[in-house]
Amino acid sequence: MAVRMAIVGATGLVGQTLLHVLQERRFPVRELRLFASARSSGQYLYFEGERLPVEPFTPERFHGLELSLWSAGAALSREYAWHIAQRGCLVVDNSSAWRHHPDVPLVVPEVNADALHAHRGIIANPNCATIQLVMLLAPVARRWGLRRVVVATYQSISGAGWKGIRQLYAELAQTSPEDIVAPGGIAYTTAFHRLDAEGWSEEERKIIAETRRILELPTLPITATCVRLPTLGGHAAAVWVETYQPVALPELRTLLSRQPGLIVLDEPKAQLYPHPRMVAGRDEVFVGRLRPDDSVPAGFSCWIVADNLRKGAATNAVQIAEALVTSVPRSTAEPLR
Ligand SMILES: NC(=O)c1ccc[n+]([C@@H]2O[C@H](COP(=O)([O-])OP(=O)(O)OC[C@H]3O[C@@H](n4cnc5c(N)ncnc54)[C@H](OP(=O)(O)O)[C@@H]3O)[C@@H](O)[C@H]2O)c1
Repeated sequence: MAVRMAIVGATGLVGQTLLHVLQERRFPVRELRLFASARSSGQYLYFEGERLPVEPFTPERFHGLELSLWSAGAALSREYAWHIAQRGCLVVDNSSAWRHHPDVPLVVPEVNADALHAHRGIIANPNCATIQLVMLLAPVARRWGLRRVVVATYQSISGAGWKGIRQLYAELAQTSPEDIVAPGGIAYTTAFHRLDAEGWSEEERKIIAETRRILELPTLPITATCVRLPTLGGHAAAVWVETYQPVALPELRTLLSRQPGLIVLDEPKAQLYPHPRMVAGRDEVFVGRLRPDDSVPAGFSCWIVADNLRKGAATNAVQIAEALVTSVPRSTAEPLR
């Protein structure tokens, strides 16, 4: 069944990646509308060789649409997504607006596709760093049980959208950026996401809360430190996993290699391991540096890398959309609790 659909935030980094992923995966599109802010009026983008206008977002423009993929920030999603879903247009939302609402499934299809069946019109795509982490943790949790997880991220500045990339390029060219997403600078240095009064960034809190929700382990001991880098291509993370049962590394390698969407690339003798530039444009999560962690009774450490705009955002959203059009009954848009 071909679908009448829209991309909200089509001119953004994620929105433009959505256009590529929909084409590559031959998503059954009957009609595609592209929405962004009024700033982008007059622009055109290409889809399957067709030049499509970018329209300013207004709820009225959704008339007759059945599916919408949103990547225009949490404020817009919070204000309009439920209204649009109630009118019969499914919403797959990349922002953080709905990720903790009890009636909004938070889904990584390889991990918890079943959660989709409970949707009432909105499905949330998790945070980009969370997606790659749960892709690693889900099979480990099933096999050995998770006692504790520690994660330190090394995130591409592209995670801050076009503004982040523009700040990096401006600093490299020694000019003044139009917008500042990293107040202390990003070229040749590191930055944290904005910190709250208790010293945490929202990104760190998202990883902790979303991982617990997706894995259905609400009391999982997990902590995170998130760092932005002047890199492009993907997010990396060092992960320390403590398990209930001892982990045999050969079995871990085999288990991870068999997971759909995971690629083990771990050849220390050849100095071969995943890194952001290598994974750019790939849909899989790459795992390397698998080592026993002798500082705990049972556990291991590793390094995971994925393209934050693809599996971390657009690809995951399109996978959700594919499940919605093929196997999940249409939303009844019952009121949210
Ligand atoms: N970048 C990532 O790695 C990543 C990963 C996962 C999730 N996300 C989430 O995805 C969303 C978009 O991220 P991005 O990196 O693509 O950001 P971006 O490059 O800054 O793009 C933002 C998009 O939203 C549109 N937009 C902003 N305000 C709008 C409004 N009031 N009405 C309509 N459209 C509006 C922009 O339109 P204009 O061009 O007209 O301004 C643009 O198309 C964010 O919620 C982000 O947290 C991002």
